[in-house]
Amino acid sequence: MTILVTGGAGYIGSHTVRALQTKGYDVIVVDNLSKGHKQAVQVPLYIGDLSDRSFLEKVFAENQIDAVIHFAALSLVGESVIRPDLYFGSNITNALSLLDVMRKYGVSQIVFSSTAAVYGEPMEVPIPESHPKQPTNPYGESKLFIEMILQRYAEAFGIRYIALRYFNAAGADPKGDIGEDHRPETHLIPLVLQAVLGQRDRLQIFGTDYPTPDGTCLRDYIHVNDLSDAHVLALEALADGASSTAYNLGNGRGFSVRKVIETAEKVTGRLVPVDEGPRRPGDPAVLVASSDRAVQELGWQPRFADLETIIATAWNWHKNNPNGFQE
Ligand code: UFG
Repeated sequence: MTILVTGGAGYIGSHTVRALQTKGYDVIVVDNLSKGHKQAVQVPLYIGDLSDRSFLEKVFAENQIDAVIHFAALSLVGESVIRPDLYFGSNITNALSLLDVMRKYGVSQIVFSSTAAVYGEPMEVPIPESHPKQPTNPYGESKLFIEMILQRYAEAFGIRYIALRYFNAAGADPKGDIGEDHRPETHLIPLVLQAVLGQRDRLQIFGTDYPTPDGTCLRDYIHVNDLSDAHVLALEALADGASSTAYNLGNGRGFSVRKVIETAEKVTGRLVPVDEGPRRPGDPAVLVASSDRAVQELGWQPRFADLETIIATAWNWHKNNPNGFQE
């Protein structure tokens, strides 16, 4: 089977490409390399943008594609608030374009990269998939709109989809040759490790007055390889005839920013220099997933669930590749 992975040179994409290869799938990647890295991919790579319709059609015309995993998107919450035009403009129109080319070439199965940000401020924790969807930023809204489009395309055109709503993706493949390399970096664990490596003066803690046990935000960190496994399982479920649906992916436990820092100090044996700063606008106090449905229906079993292992694999990547991928 041949799987097209859009955004396959990115962080979660490249780990999923590897999981697919391990399972014996043929994989082709489409990536515009705006965020992704060529070095992260060892399969055929089409460099181009999903907004380029003739480019996309060429990819489908040249390959017998059986299913698609769609990662390629802008994914920064803060940026989306300042530039909603980019997020609505590109995330949604690119997904529409991809779906329309899939229809034209008779490809009817898609796994979609969604996010916890579709829920907005949680009304109950852990968050089940049935939780109200009230995103608080254009990033989450763009992903929710695409889920709605997928649902309508499923009803009207027979496309089947599984949307995977990730909580906080973290860690790196234990092999150590691929990992997280965002430029600029905004995520907590890589920022903590960059502070350990002396690449940043200090890690700033965004808010110490949240209604949580230690005053800092709680997040549900999920290893990138566990996310990748879930994509392969979702693909297999669709191939077996599964109905369209969405699943949360998290470990069901919330760790505070201070706990992440403390664990990073334990893993690295070094101190993390920190500053306590104000809250970052838009951060909910607690985000924790209920992933029971993914466990029951997809047979998903996280392999790297504990925070220490997640941070240890990230550390293995960062200390050996302090400047990320070499361009
Ligand atoms: N944080 C700091 N200092 C930093 C960076 C982050 O204290 O320098 C804190 C944040 O306030 C938050 C936690 O660390 O409490 C995690 O922050 P990240 O930026 O790593 O991740 P987010 O929880 O903000 O974002 C994640 C996903 C997004 C998704 C969002 C949903 O990365 O894709 O959850 O709200 F949209």
